[in-house]
Amino acid sequence: MNSGKVLQSIAQIAADAPEAQSLMAQTVTLLEHERPHYNWVGIYLLEGDELVLGPYVGKPTPHTRIPLNKGICGAAASSGQTLIVDEVGADPRYLACSLETKSEIVVPIIREGRVLGEIDIDSDQPAAFTEDDRTLLESVAEILAANL
Ligand code: SME
Repeated sequence: MNSGKVLQSIAQIAADAPEAQSLMAQTVTLLEHERPHYNWVGIYLLEGDELVLGPYVGKPTPHTRIPLNKGICGAAASSGQTLIVDEVGADPRYLACSLETKSEIVVPIIREGRVLGEIDIDSDQPAAFTEDDRTLLESVAEILAANL
């Protein structure tokens, strides 16, 4: 599916989804299915000063709660900016989830200037995430922001 179709599908899920949990679960499932280089796809929601893991697809992670001052996840949520890390092993902020992971993208979900959470995606390929991924995922984050 091209990016336009992926976005259209997620907008449709948002229009149909009975509640946020279902929207998030269907979104991570669709993204993981549609993009072979997405090996772990999850959504964290901000609760106080911690990111709490919600729906995800991939191996279980020990990082189900991440303080805002920890990890690439914490850095993205704190700055409100998308972070792309081409080589996670070279980034001192990285909290390891799987030994296979080589690169990561984290996209904040922001509504009216407030960070609600983030989409976190790991790839087993180094430097897997391009500007196309950023554009797609920032649009997905906008749909989520309007519907969470
Ligand atoms: N790698 C993340 C932690 C979450 S796991 O990838 C699922 C980080 O450094 O914040």
